[in-house]
Amino acid sequence: MEDIYIMGIETSCDETSVSIVKNGREVLSNVINSQIKIHEQYGGVVPEIASRCHTEVINQIMKQALMEAKITLENVSAIAVTYGPGLVGALLVGVSFAKGLSFATKKPLVPVNHIMGHISANYITHKDLKPPFLSLIISGGHTYLVDVQDYDKFEILGKTRDDAIGEAFDKVARVVGLGYPGGPKVDKLAKEGESNIDLPIAQMDNLDFSFSGIKTAIINLNHKNPELNKADLCASFEKTATEMLVTNVRKAIKDTKKTELVLAGGVSANSYIRKEFDKLAEEEKIEVLYPELSLCTDNAAMIASAGYYEFIKGKRADLRLNAIPNLKL
Ligand SMILES: Nc1ncnc2c1ncn2[C@@H]1O[C@H](COP(=O)(O)OP(=O)(O)OP(=O)(O)O)[C@@H](O)[C@H]1O
Ligand SMILES: [Mg+2]
Repeated sequence: MEDIYIMGIETSCDETSVSIVKNGREVLSNVINSQIKIHEQYGGVVPEIASRCHTEVINQIMKQALMEAKITLENVSAIAVTYGPGLVGALLVGVSFAKGLSFATKKPLVPVNHIMGHISANYITHKDLKPPFLSLIISGGHTYLVDVQDYDKFEILGKTRDDAIGEAFDKVARVVGLGYPGGPKVDKLAKEGESNIDLPIAQMDNLDFSFSGIKTAIINLNHKNPELNKADLCASFEKTATEMLVTNVRKAIKDTKKTELVLAGGVSANSYIRKEFDKLAEEEKIEVLYPELSLCTDNAAMIASAGYYEFIKGKRADLRLNAIPNLKL
């Protein structure tokens, strides 16, 4: 079979990224321009600034991705682009750029769901991984427990009813004075603390999650008791939030009898969460997989991988493709 080269384009939030992936699994290049330094001073992503930054660099990032992959635009089989979910202005930069490129080169345009992209990061890291499997997607904006039945077929078993877990991590970081982006900083500081503070656990009658209660509890505790040790707060937050994840996943494993669990999204880089899921794997005699650290947060290689499976199934978009900020899985 002829090799398929997918160009992935990702601009859903504050990373401009273009990647070339061969046959869905082999990364030839994955250029990522992070805007973290720019947004840091505002304590979070400023949507208008994010869009402008994408516009300024996307053409250069695309050229660099081709150069590093040592191929030309002519060798690209299709252009895959994130069209949602994400910030509308940021998404539109990638979508418009991809449409222009597709029109000029006559290459097929493949629309990709960003959350599907996060799951697909695992196809790059684990070359033999194939659906079906269970997936826990824990990212900045989403928390989903999903039965992945095929590359493009999902059943949502549980989701957050309020905040995403990544949002809670970022909020906790801000409250204890660690700044943005908070997840990695909470991860690091928690290692120096004890999880000795009781925090509320949201009890659900199904596999849904809720992180607003624990987030508010941390805000109030920190406000009323400024002397509380910040490392202990971080460690306690991580322990309780992870317990909520593990409880639902354990139920889902028992319900579905699935033996493979795949974590995805920025929060799956967390070292405590990985340790606890490794424990779950042993206890439940299942296999737990994680994307390599560099593929947990936003990147275009995961979009190209997801785009490959959409491409070979015949999914195409035309020039009417629009950004869908609240696109569902
Ligand atoms: N080591 C870590 N521990 C905990 N959280 C982390 C870690 N590393 C990154 N994160 C969190 O991951 C999130 C960013 O990841 P991701 O790229 O998946 O989110 P996003 O693209 O903003 O949202 P979405 O993918 O849902 O649209 C942030 O909330 C960040 O704090
Ligand atoms: Mg993301």
